[in-house]
Amino acid sequence: MKFQGSQNYVATQDLMLAVNAAITLKRPLLVKGEPGTGKTMLAEEVAQALDMPLLQWHIKSTTKAQQGLYEYDAVNRLRDSQLNTADSAERVKDIRNYIVQGVLWQAFTADRPVALLIDEIDKADIEFPNDLLREIDRMEFYCYETRELIKAKHRPLVFITSNNEKELPDAFLRRCFFHYIKFPDADTMKKIVDVHFPKLKDELLTVAMKTFYDVRNLPGLKKKPSTSELLDWLKLLMAEDIPLEALQSADNKVSIPPLVGALLKNEQDTTLFEKLVFMNQRNR
Ligand SMILES: Nc1ncnc2c1ncn2[C@@H]1O[C@H](COP(=O)(O)OP(=O)(O)O)[C@@H](O)[C@H]1O
Ligand SMILES: [Mg+2]
Repeated sequence: MKFQGSQNYVATQDLMLAVNAAITLKRPLLVKGEPGTGKTMLAEEVAQALDMPLLQWHIKSTTKAQQGLYEYDAVNRLRDSQLNTADSAERVKDIRNYIVQGVLWQAFTADRPVALLIDEIDKADIEFPNDLLREIDRMEFYCYETRELIKAKHRPLVFITSNNEKELPDAFLRRCFFHYIKFPDADTMKKIVDVHFPKLKDELLTVAMKTFYDVRNLPGLKKKPSTSELLDWLKLLMAEDIPLEALQSADNKVSIPPLVGALLKNEQDTTLFEKLVFMNQRNR
């Protein structure tokens, strides 16, 4: 099993190495990086390239580790017990009818190896990663209601992503292989854009990329635009048929790009940018 990138996804050499290292070590791959740098998509692409089904678990602030294992639906059971039909009476007898399997359960009991994505683990509370340590380590857990041990038939290929909003506990980090997706340099970015918009004209791309990196390198931005924002913006530029001249001023000074709302997502950043452009123009 080796991952070599895919048609829809531009993977740098070190990213491919990291994926394969995690596979060899049989450890989860922890992928960090700015939002929009292709962390979620990586799991989807690797799963597809290795022909594995992908189970996705998108973490929210309220997600508990137990939900990934199983949940006991007591309400439904109570209702069935009060219904008094032959059908419900039959169901009530077996507690297994009220166990809702979580993604880990599904991944562990699948007939063939699957990929498992635990997306944005830093959204959950601080205990969440610790609560999953044993399950991820031993690849098994116990269901108390049915008194059975759920053991992985095949070890799933685990991807864990984090936007770096919270630190993860050391004990958790120790069990993962870590990779930080650096923000793509211009060459890599060109390849990524090419995957999405193969027909984009070279001149437009060059000018748009320059504007994009200018905006991104503005000191003091609260939220730097990332890959997905550049892609959105390019899509708009093409859809609206924005002429090249609108993107670049004759004297190569910074100007406010059209549809800047695709790149800058809060008013402080827009104001900062406008001020800079204003000062630039006065200094002519
Ligand atoms: N390396 C890449 N190759 C191709 N497309 C990419 C790449 N990185 C990011 N993208 C684009 O950016 C979008 C956002 O990626 P996503 O995986 O959702 O980012 P993240 O999970 O890191 O926030 C994707 O839908 C894809 O279109
Ligand atoms: Mg994501």
